[in-house]
Amino acid sequence: MCGIVGYTGPREALPLLMNGLRRLEYRGYDSAGVAVQRDGTLEVLRAEGKLDNLASVVSAKGAAGHTGIGHTRWATHGRPSEQNAHPHVDCGGVTAVIHNGIIENFEALKAPLVAGGHRFSSETDTEVAVHLLEEELKAGRSLEDAALAVLPRLEGAAALAFISVRDPGKIVAARISNAGGVIVGYGEGENFIASDIPALLEHTRRMSFLDHGEIAVVTKDAVSFRALDGKTIEKTVETIALDPIAAAKSGYKHFMLKEIHEQPRAISDSLLGRVERSTGRVVFDSNVRMDDAFVRAIPRISFVACGTASHAALVGKYLVERLARVPCDVEIASEYRYRSPVIVPGQLVVAVTQSGETVDTLAAMEEAKRQGARLLTLVNVVGSQASRVSDDVVFLHAGPEISVASTKAYVAMLVDLYLFAVYLAQRRGTIDPTRARQLLAEAFHLPTLVDAVLREEPKIRSLAYRYYQARNFLFLGRGVNYPTALEGALKLKELSYIHAEGTAGGEMKHGTNALIDQELPVVAIALKDSVYKKIRSNMEEVRARAGVVIAVANDDDEEIVGRAEEIIRIPRTEELLEPVLAVVPLQLLAYHIADRRGNDVDQPRNLAKAVTVE
Ligand code: AGP
Repeated sequence: MCGIVGYTGPREALPLLMNGLRRLEYRGYDSAGVAVQRDGTLEVLRAEGKLDNLASVVSAKGAAGHTGIGHTRWATHGRPSEQNAHPHVDCGGVTAVIHNGIIENFEALKAPLVAGGHRFSSETDTEVAVHLLEEELKAGRSLEDAALAVLPRLEGAAALAFISVRDPGKIVAARISNAGGVIVGYGEGENFIASDIPALLEHTRRMSFLDHGEIAVVTKDAVSFRALDGKTIEKTVETIALDPIAAAKSGYKHFMLKEIHEQPRAISDSLLGRVERSTGRVVFDSNVRMDDAFVRAIPRISFVACGTASHAALVGKYLVERLARVPCDVEIASEYRYRSPVIVPGQLVVAVTQSGETVDTLAAMEEAKRQGARLLTLVNVVGSQASRVSDDVVFLHAGPEISVASTKAYVAMLVDLYLFAVYLAQRRGTIDPTRARQLLAEAFHLPTLVDAVLREEPKIRSLAYRYYQARNFLFLGRGVNYPTALEGALKLKELSYIHAEGTAGGEMKHGTNALIDQELPVVAIALKDSVYKKIRSNMEEVRARAGVVIAVANDDDEEIVGRAEEIIRIPRTEELLEPVLAVVPLQLLAYHIADRRGNDVDQPRNLAKAVTVE
């Protein structure tokens, strides 16, 4: 949710911290701050609002020093303000903390500190950590020993980093529970920390990832790791292959637009190497370790996910049930662990997540694991927590997704779920080999077909400009495109702040029809598939009540003409792949409406990219 960075080495820390924060700003953007330590002093600069505000403060005031930490905030406790921005400092102003997550017992911890004379200057839960640390440092402990004394007392979810002039040149970073990743990046005579890979890529590709209950002690020459019980631990150094250029805007107005246009490539990369030419079978790499006997015996699959990823999972349920005949359910991850889910022997739980750091999804996975389920994760971010705790992992290969609104990761999820359904079907003997080959061959046409949809962008932009002032929108879908309707509504809501609902066409008559009037644009996904006639009837119901229908229809569909006020054309494909094509115009519609309304497309208000708090 929040982003954290840190640097220690021979270079000036401030520009490096600001650069790292730029790469992490998508995680939180209510306020930001840095702390730089030099010769017995600590300089803290903070500003409310976007990072540009902090940049102005930094250029006006500056701060010299070779060790520092920085933070970009997504507020949980305490409104967005300069006072509540991180880093927070102790009473003497010599020790600083940055934090991602929530310290749930902060009130109980704060009361005795206040009674003991500590002065708090923010409304945050975070500040308590630095005052507790102050007590430990006063007792003459090193920064890491002080942190190890404090961290077990913090309840809830947290990733933290500390610096102090009492123990100069050192950063101590910690990960407690699932909240927020902490990555250590290794340089030459310098080292870094960050909550996400893109913040480190321009400096190093050699990284280590903290797991729950671990701290890293980072100086310019050395990095060591300890568990919360103080024992030294060894961590592997991994080499990350991500390309920093891929994380830049490359001439597009927004990351979202760039990521929408990257979808053909994301799909190609998801398919690459996953169909064995000689046998026509789907193969995943060595990160999927389940054997055929296990696959044949799976009695049930539960998908767990949040937001857009949960819409992909709904499509996944449809695909797996249709092709592999395994009963599936889709669980909103934030509800899963609170309702005593039943796990049966041999059950597979499939987590779907772009970031691999969504705390609700991680908690659902933990619950499933506790009950003995096998865990498979479809995830985009390599090295993320979800990928590390899973038995089996399918990486999405969508490339870094920076815009808060998920687009290319969503289509990569759809493609990988399609491959996964065929994979299961082939091993369970529920699909005819010729049908499997046809399905897979069709998937390889997707990049070209998505390109064709993208060429419709000028028309979709004009349409967006006609409807950008609407106050409500309705999205209708049926069958495999019911989740597409949910996703279209979510994209519009999060980007444009227009209220929108996604509904299964058949549900209209059970209540939603009451909303229809001439002010309500209704986007209907009306493709020439097994439910075409049904959705057409729903469109008629809307028009009979003076509603305005915007149809997403196939490019060879003549029957639709005259049955909708607006028509967006997309090519035909296999029915089970339609969601991949049908979502693209809805992404573009949401993007252009939001842009026309002057909204901050890449960083919508009140949202963050990786939701690492409950
Ligand atoms: C998508 O546009 C949203 N920003 C959000 O719903 C997102 O999909 C959700 O928070 C899940 O994130 P994850 O895929 O990283 O787990």
